[in-house]
Amino acid sequence: MEALLSALRAAAEPTRLRLLAILARGELTVSELTRVLHQSQPRVSRHLKLLCDPGLLQRWPEGAWVFYRLAERGEGARVARTLLELLPAADPELARDLEWLERVRRDRAERATAYFRDNAACWDHIRSLYVGEAAVERAMLKAAGKGALGDLVDLGTGTGLVAREFARRGAGVSGIDVAPGQIDAARQAAADEGLAVDFAVAAAAEACPFADASFDVVTASQCWMYFDLGRTLAEVRRLLRPGGPLVTTHFSWLPRADPVARASEALVLRLNPAWQGGDWSGAVAAEPAWTAGRASVRAMFWFDADVPFTRESWRGRMRACRGVGATLPAEQVAGFDAELAAWLDDHVAPAFTVRHRIDAHLLDPWPPDQDPGDPVARARKGF
Ligand SMILES: C[S@@+](CC[C@H](N)C(=O)[O-])C[C@H]1O[C@@H](n2cnc3c(N)ncnc32)[C@H](O)[C@@H]1O
Repeated sequence: MEALLSALRAAAEPTRLRLLAILARGELTVSELTRVLHQSQPRVSRHLKLLCDPGLLQRWPEGAWVFYRLAERGEGARVARTLLELLPAADPELARDLEWLERVRRDRAERATAYFRDNAACWDHIRSLYVGEAAVERAMLKAAGKGALGDLVDLGTGTGLVAREFARRGAGVSGIDVAPGQIDAARQAAADEGLAVDFAVAAAAEACPFADASFDVVTASQCWMYFDLGRTLAEVRRLLRPGGPLVTTHFSWLPRADPVARASEALVLRLNPAWQGGDWSGAVAAEPAWTAGRASVRAMFWFDADVPFTRESWRGRMRACRGVGATLPAEQVAGFDAELAAWLDDHVAPAFTVRHRIDAHLLDPWPPDQDPGDPVARARKGF
């Protein structure tokens, strides 16, 4: 009774009802919600906290962001769903919110495209730093299983590092990305190696140019957090043949374990105090919060790698950090770079390593009770 009353009290306020209606359409960050609601960040954060406490909403950190969405389970989730059914369909304020929501989502997609377009050349370089270890690709191959790889599509393929690795191992590979510059680079690299990979520019991972049930595996490396989760999951389900998994991976340096990463982040924060991407604890959820009620985790693992850098290549890595290259004006980026160069000269050898954590999740992209996969085929594919 008390739980129900708390949930009802939390929702009984106009902005908080609007928040429920907006977040029923997908997950958003506080700053995105600030734009949709036209209210200050502290106010929006307070409303969000009041809705999270009784379990109407759920929050989870994902890389550099904290996302909010409607809770999937529990008393709070049931109250939220019931209230949403009671909301007037034609309320003009809610209609305006949803228009703004579309605008904010479009902007998110455009920003991601612009960032990666501008960083296309240096992304391949940054990623190639990891290829000595081939850690990411190895993690994905391990996650995808030992049997025949079949047909695979790599979402947010970038310069195609994952796609090319799977093609080398005999999979029939397609790769899509929103950034034409990345796809050009991916095509060129595949052609140089004589690999047949079907790379395509797509409007978004949420709208891929492929027929239903075309693939045995869908992969997404270091990009799942940029996608609109609900829409991309629907697309992944459409693209997969029964029993096929979604494999996601992420990798990031570990500022709490690595002094170079820690000092570099401190420098970013000095120039860009609003940057929220730092101080990652290294915690990798066995079941990422976004999967609740939407997908189930078949297996996951993570491991650490000491990734080799030179002073020059680490400076390149840090210039491409979102808190630097994507947000600061050119002269501040140059100032940051000069300070970092001086720090590196004083503190590290010309060649050094930075500890990174790499994680992979093998997922059935269906709510557990709706999984249409063939359990026998799935057991055979297990890893
Ligand atoms: C960090 S890069 C990762 C590239 C590659 N998967 C890898 O592991 O090297 C993220 C990629 O996601 C792409 N991207 C971002 N939002 C996207 C979307 N909505 N649909 C498809 N691709 C997207 C970017 O253009 C970029 O190439």
